[in-house]
Amino acid sequence: MNVAQSPALTQAQYLMADERIARARALIMEAVSERQEGLSGPRPPDPDLAPGYEALLASFKECRGQPLYYPYIASGFGCGPLVELADGSVKYDMICGIGVHAFGHSHPRMIGAAFDAVLDDTLMQGNLQQSATSLKLMQALLRAANRRGAGFAHVFLSSSGAMANENALKVLFHKRSPADRLLVFENCFMGRTLALGCATDRPAYRAGLPSSLTVDYVPFYDHRRPAQSTARAVEVLESHLARHPGRHAAMGFELVQGEGGYHAGSPRFFRALSAVLRKAGVPLMVDEIQTFGRGQEIFAFQAFGLDQEAQVVTCGKMLHACATLFRKELAPAPGLLSQTFTASSASLRAGLMVLEALENGGLTGKNGRIPVLARYFCKGLAHLAKRFPQTVAGPFGFGAMIAFTLENGDGEKTKAFCRDLFDAGIIAFPAGGHPARVRFLPPFPAMEQSDVDAVLAILGKVIEARVRASKKGET
Ligand SMILES: Cc1ncc(COP(=O)(O)O)c(C=O)c1O
Repeated sequence: MNVAQSPALTQAQYLMADERIARARALIMEAVSERQEGLSGPRPPDPDLAPGYEALLASFKECRGQPLYYPYIASGFGCGPLVELADGSVKYDMICGIGVHAFGHSHPRMIGAAFDAVLDDTLMQGNLQQSATSLKLMQALLRAANRRGAGFAHVFLSSSGAMANENALKVLFHKRSPADRLLVFENCFMGRTLALGCATDRPAYRAGLPSSLTVDYVPFYDHRRPAQSTARAVEVLESHLARHPGRHAAMGFELVQGEGGYHAGSPRFFRALSAVLRKAGVPLMVDEIQTFGRGQEIFAFQAFGLDQEAQVVTCGKMLHACATLFRKELAPAPGLLSQTFTASSASLRAGLMVLEALENGGLTGKNGRIPVLARYFCKGLAHLAKRFPQTVAGPFGFGAMIAFTLENGDGEKTKAFCRDLFDAGIIAFPAGGHPARVRFLPPFPAMEQSDVDAVLAILGKVIEARVRASKKGET
């Protein structure tokens, strides 16, 4: 290509269009796909790799000052829901970095996004020097969030869910000054910064930390008592508002309690509370760090019919970048929001790919791959609950956020069970405390029905072994 002939193109555009780049990309994809033929199902560690792996785990513990939750150190390769670890074992990853790797492992579209990012001039994008990819991602987010009539005007990117929530709170407190209190649900999780640790309803997560936010709690929805729990939540909310008139900057809604144990609210419940908030002039902030991309709609607030109510929404995890979207009237003065990093170039490009796939890739909507496979997974769990009624209760959750309660929901037993699952070839993770649950965030965009069958078959065997052991008095 003759650069001098087309002055309107940048050198970067020429580089992207260079046929050698296309060849390199094709070669990478070919090599990946060939290697993936070697990953067809779970397998145990390779005994030859075991000693080195043990040393790696020990070094990890030493460096971090605490052991890893699972003996999990990735080899750096996988195939959809299957991940290879550095000890040569292969597992079904049904938790995906707690909901980040929704396209599984070594997905061609993710590799493609990362490949494009390799050609970006910098690895990180920041507030001062932006690339057009950030703008494209912000525009795509606004389009996706507003597609059912919500009125978000602005979006600010950041590099963690906690930072997206911090930015949301800053925007809200700034606009509502001198309001100095926040309303949230009991059992919520918002993140682990000093301020968010005050809202997250887990005393252990703020042990020894100074209080930096005054929080009023409202009880969450109880699916066993829909009308009573809704009435009770409205009553408590009204009493907080009456006790501290004009002092609440916002109420944070976690529509499906994630870390709290996969408890979902209902449209009627949220509508009842948002009507009270609207009357009191208190803005609604929706924390979609975990729920984004999990259901029939791209955002859960759309599934719960809160398009007109939500004034701020945050998202992260499977987006690969994190974001705070807010309405025009909440736009802060310059200086309030800023960071050195907004995200890595690869995260931004991955985020664009994820949004594109959620919008146009047959993943969402009633018959989209995510809700269809989620229903199929839940049907399998319901079957296990019928087969083992003393051991499995559920399923619970929302879309691709799936959980069940093991026996009486004891935390330690649930943890031990998750470790048994890990050894058997499935990576899941506990959630919640009362009861604790076994949860899954499966990478449905990268899965087939046959993968779900394979996962459920292993799960069934682990449960069966447990039931047998408990009959012998071993658990
Ligand atoms: C609902 C919710 N909010 C906030 C966060 C915090 O996100 P991060 O861990 O990326 O800071 C999480 C993380 O699990 C979450 O589930």
